[in-house]
Amino acid sequence: MTQLAGTKALLRLACVALALTAFWPDFAPATFAQAPAPSPSAKIWEGRHAEFEAFIRTAEFERIEDVPIGVTRPKRAFFKPGGPVASVAWKVLPPGRQKGYWESYKSEIAAYELDKLLGLGMVPVTVEKQWKYDRGAAVLWLSSIRSWKEVSDRPKPPHWDRQAIRMKMFDNLICNKDRNAGNLLVDDAWNLFLIDHSRAFISDNDLPVSMVRVDRELWDRMLALDEATLTAVIGKWVNGSDLRAILKRRDKMKAAIDRMVKARGEAAVFVH
Ligand SMILES: Nc1ncnc2c1ncn2[C@@H]1O[C@H](COP(=O)(O)OP(=O)(O)O)[C@@H](O)[C@H]1O
Ligand SMILES: [Mg+2]
Repeated sequence: MTQLAGTKALLRLACVALALTAFWPDFAPATFAQAPAPSPSAKIWEGRHAEFEAFIRTAEFERIEDVPIGVTRPKRAFFKPGGPVASVAWKVLPPGRQKGYWESYKSEIAAYELDKLLGLGMVPVTVEKQWKYDRGAAVLWLSSIRSWKEVSDRPKPPHWDRQAIRMKMFDNLICNKDRNAGNLLVDDAWNLFLIDHSRAFISDNDLPVSMVRVDRELWDRMLALDEATLTAVIGKWVNGSDLRAILKRRDKMKAAIDRMVKARGEAAVFVH
């Protein structure tokens, strides 16, 4: 085919495409289509904590399904449509040892309450719920969410690092040794969410995560924690030596952070 004939053929194809577009809008090439609206943040409870907590605590489950992933075999429970929350992770884990690990639904609630106290905003709304003969933690099920496995290779926006730093500080404070790829979720706005804290709040004094940088604001809030405040906020869910271990780990974090600052200087350690 000569160059002229090739150009004519291309032109004819373009005309056919345009004609089809006029009568059949779906034929419009993808580049003509409108860009999809950015998905909203999955943090739908922001500024409405009490309302979401009350709904999850009191609304009836319509049906309960098995969650095909995970180790403790949580369930997903659905509410009747029309409320502020469509479904929750339903974790009936009475305090005790399972497969060698201490697990408790109460730790799920403690993680959420401590998240609120520290102004973290990463743990979805979690409350204690009684449903039929079961008592457990009901955790708001995040929608439009991706697992860490899906996004770990993608380029991260600037606000990502600070969230990852905060997550590590939180995991040290609560002694969470279970932050595997299934236990952190990310929405389309790159908000980081933390789930599955049933193994946390144990009495170990060791810090499970090594910290390289420290979020100044969060650290100041952690430094302000004392036994009376913790007892008031999470004493129903964590007590005795497990509660005091939070402060022992905080003091260990302080020693580690002081060493980091001495070695590298404040500017290299703290992020704001
Ligand atoms: N609140 C939630 N929102 C969205 N997905 C969730 C939520 N809770 C659990 N999942 C999904 O279910 C999986 C298993 O739940 P998880 O709480 O991690 O239990 P397990 O102790 O079995 O690991 C998670 O990896 C995640 O994919
Ligand atoms: Mg898990």
